[in-house]
Amino acid sequence: MCGIVGYAGEQTSKDVLDVLLDGLSGLEYRGYDSAGVAVANSSLDVYKREGDLSTLEESLPEQPPNGFAGIGHTRWSTHGPPSDANAHPHTDCDDRIAVAHNGIIDNDQELRDALEADGHVFESETDTEVIPHLVESAIDQGADVETAFRRAIDRLEGSYAVIAVRSGSEALYAARHHSPLIIGIDGDDYYLASDVSAFLGYTEDVIYLEDGQFATVRPAGVEVTDERGALVETSVETVDWDPEDAGKSGYDHYMLKEIHEQPHALRECLRGRPQGLENAVLLEAVADVTEPKRVHFVACGTSYHASLYGARLVRERGIPATAFLASEYDSDVIPIDGDTLVVGVTQSGETADTMSALRDANGAGGTTLTVTNVVGSSAARESDHVMYIRAGPEIGVAATKTFASQQIALAMLSSALTDDCSQEFVDALRALPDQVQSVLDDSRARAIAGEYVDSDAYFFIGRGYCAPVAREGALKMKEITYKHAEGFPAGELKHGPLALVTDRTPVFAVVNRESNPEKMIGNVKEVESRGAPVIAVTDTPEAVRNHADHVLGVPDTHWRFTPVLANVQLQLASYWVANRLGRSIDKPRNLAKSVTVE
Ligand code: G6P
Repeated sequence: MCGIVGYAGEQTSKDVLDVLLDGLSGLEYRGYDSAGVAVANSSLDVYKREGDLSTLEESLPEQPPNGFAGIGHTRWSTHGPPSDANAHPHTDCDDRIAVAHNGIIDNDQELRDALEADGHVFESETDTEVIPHLVESAIDQGADVETAFRRAIDRLEGSYAVIAVRSGSEALYAARHHSPLIIGIDGDDYYLASDVSAFLGYTEDVIYLEDGQFATVRPAGVEVTDERGALVETSVETVDWDPEDAGKSGYDHYMLKEIHEQPHALRECLRGRPQGLENAVLLEAVADVTEPKRVHFVACGTSYHASLYGARLVRERGIPATAFLASEYDSDVIPIDGDTLVVGVTQSGETADTMSALRDANGAGGTTLTVTNVVGSSAARESDHVMYIRAGPEIGVAATKTFASQQIALAMLSSALTDDCSQEFVDALRALPDQVQSVLDDSRARAIAGEYVDSDAYFFIGRGYCAPVAREGALKMKEITYKHAEGFPAGELKHGPLALVTDRTPVFAVVNRESNPEKMIGNVKEVESRGAPVIAVTDTPEAVRNHADHVLGVPDTHWRFTPVLANVQLQLASYWVANRLGRSIDKPRNLAKSVTVE
């Protein structure tokens, strides 16, 4: 996830570049693929590089000039692959205005077309670059820089935290909408950042900007205004954080932080895709893919579980679809032709088994599509089409928010591929981020998990759309607790696993009121009668309450999305068991985030 920092201070007090580089190192934990800074003095010095901060530092001149104010950015690619040109800050045609931005601008293409028609020349593929050109254009029409900045921001649709700086000026101009931006204050020194970890070494006194607010920051003071330009009274708060914890935003583990980032991740994944008015899902990735005769999903681990879910959705909409473990995919025995769409699902875009399956499919004449979180990854580059899930960087080895984003990305894909979409489906998709938030706010998983820390093993069962999420629940549990866990379609219980069920093997049963609830309750009774504690994760608590020791509820949604919400409860349950056991949650033994060997 991108990070931004800005500094405007008394010119004698600190070296602007040093403060910016310090700030960027405080943001490194968010994950990034390129970094850059812009320092305003009589001109504008911009340094930016693909790669990590040390690459940027090595590229700096031996004695860079000090300046009046500056901005910096760590970039996590969304529009255009990682490259020097795509790194922020971005500038206008005359290099007078530099801008750093977090978020996504939905109407960037429209703005870019208009600006290019007016003669503006772009140097990057990013959505961000429209901003300095919009500011330039307003200045050229006679506006002062503050007004020009406001006019530019007014034209943006999407999400943003933006900071701009101008050559010859000691001021920073900032605005936010659906992306955090915080002002740090230390006497006459002012900081701006997407999170406090960028300036915690300097100050703990902060002003939190709200959506729709603008700020102009100078060594002489801060002025915050609302959308209409009226002054806003702000209060200075003290951040009570140990800088050591800042990378995890106060959470004990990245995994827990990432579980809590899911509402935001889902909003980003949905942005601009479901179209309520037309009852359609617009996916650029498949705009020129003709409806395939069959769809093969290829994936590993958690991404395979998302693929099982995706394949069911596509099948239900009338196209034969199968999810394959990428390591088992082989065009010698699995027929592939030009009518076969092979969808590689991989959060990292680098998993060797998935790469090998995609290459196999390419070689056999299939059409390939990658669904990934990483822009410019190998899978994205080597496939015919690519769809980004926009979950932001995931640092915990156990995939959490990327799985949630994969699920809804594949739900949208199934709809776009088949032109099958209803108002109900679109509304339900859009409601998911808030519903995930309500699961996070109300979950009792921590207390319940505490009761079953000493269990021998854990079982996870579900039917239909809830079967893949049962497998994922078990994978999460085994990855981070090192305890035996198994997940499978509930109907399989009696064909083997039931032999292992005892009063020391809790069973998590995902019960969806539309996926054969009577049969599910039958399965729940099977384990109940063997003494196993039952934890029902369900949208229909009344139906299971009499047979479950505990109920973890999820809100009502379109029945296809119940597993998206249920999964959050399962993630939390695994996390809290592992936490009580004192496991190395973010880096479980023997596991790696990106597995680049077959
Ligand atoms: C590794 C990770 C898993 C992940 C799998 C597939 O095994 O530990 O969490 O699900 O790779 O990764 P991908 O990047 O292809 O989704």
